[in-house]
Amino acid sequence: MSTSASVAPEHGVASGLEGVPAAETALSDVDGETGRLILCGLELVDFVARHGFESAAARFWTIARGEPVSAETPDAVRAALGQARAAAFIQFEALGPAFEGLTLSEGLRLGLASLAEGERAHLAVTGAVPVFLANLARHHARKAPIAPQPDLPHVEDFLRMLRGSPAGATDIQALTTYLVTVMDHGMNASTFTARVVASTGAGLVGAIVGAYAALTGPLHGGAPEPVLAMLDAVGRPDRARSWVEDALRKGERLMGFGHRIYKVRDPRADVLKAALEKLKPSGERLELARAVETAALDALKRHKPGRKLETNVEFYTAMLLDGLGMPRAAFTPLFAMGRVVGWSAHAFEQRRIGRLIRPASLYVGELPP
Ligand code: COA
Repeated sequence: MSTSASVAPEHGVASGLEGVPAAETALSDVDGETGRLILCGLELVDFVARHGFESAAARFWTIARGEPVSAETPDAVRAALGQARAAAFIQFEALGPAFEGLTLSEGLRLGLASLAEGERAHLAVTGAVPVFLANLARHHARKAPIAPQPDLPHVEDFLRMLRGSPAGATDIQALTTYLVTVMDHGMNASTFTARVVASTGAGLVGAIVGAYAALTGPLHGGAPEPVLAMLDAVGRPDRARSWVEDALRKGERLMGFGHRIYKVRDPRADVLKAALEKLKPSGERLELARAVETAALDALKRHKPGRKLETNVEFYTAMLLDGLGMPRAAFTPLFAMGRVVGWSAHAFEQRRIGRLIRPASLYVGELPP
């Protein structure tokens, strides 16, 4: 694009590309004004009620490939993910010393980057996340690694590897609800990254590694930990009002509230809140979370009138993952365990479009004399 130093500010650039449609997709639709999220043609609550991890993944991949009937049935996906987990465990053991000194999240990035490209790379990466994540968490806790059991369902096997004992149905259901809820969410930063990489013709593993790197930033996938830090700082339900008042007076942001797209309550917050209630976390913790949410919403209305700041997905994600006993360092990698399905589906969709994503820039530098 031909520009001069003077044109850029007047013409302007939406520096966060807000409101700029960058792709057509049949995978998900986010309506921030009405608080509606559609996944694969269903309302979020219906999609979550109808699908477990494997059948949700099968649905996303089938739609993304544009096939009327898919070879990737839920049963085929379950079997293939079991094989992929077994292969990832061999890779985990082979990488051994390379994980030394890395955080859990850095370890997962290394593990993903070490996978080979190929026809079935979407299965390889989706199967690898829980194996690397569970065993890296065990390594950090100085526990011996646990091999996957390929015949088990994906989420059940992950919890078994992480904890070293079989998980109960309530925990499996709660984590499944979380993972399916976060599988896809419009053109968020990591999904866009996956599509940009895929649009160059690069392999799917490369697209996923790029997407994962984008996810790890605090503005994207890193918010649930600060939510727990806030709850810890509040401490008791009767201190919620004065704590949030004080924080807002000091100009701080309340973690787990506000969203770039949602101007009403994030529909994912409700689904996760319902899952949390079934999990029956300690009454005290739930009471504290309710008190903080009520106090925060009330205070935000008064301190930020007209801003439409509501509870976002991270608030109940934090509560749910904490209730499941997940280590805080595992929160962002857990997000990836669900979102990897969406990333690979978007990479397939982008490949079908077959067009290189290559936007323009406005030159604001000096012109040659
Ligand atoms: N607490 C207090 N004030 C908040 C707020 C929050 N959580 N979120 C937004 N605001 C205020 C801003 O201070 C700003 O006020 P001002 O105009 O008086 O300065 C106004 O609301 C608009 O904020 P802006 O930063 O333009 O909104 P955004 O769309 O860019 O921000 C977030 C979206 C998510 C980055 C923002 O709401 C936030 O920081 N939330 C807390 C972190 C979080 O929960 N992240 C997870 C997101 S899923």
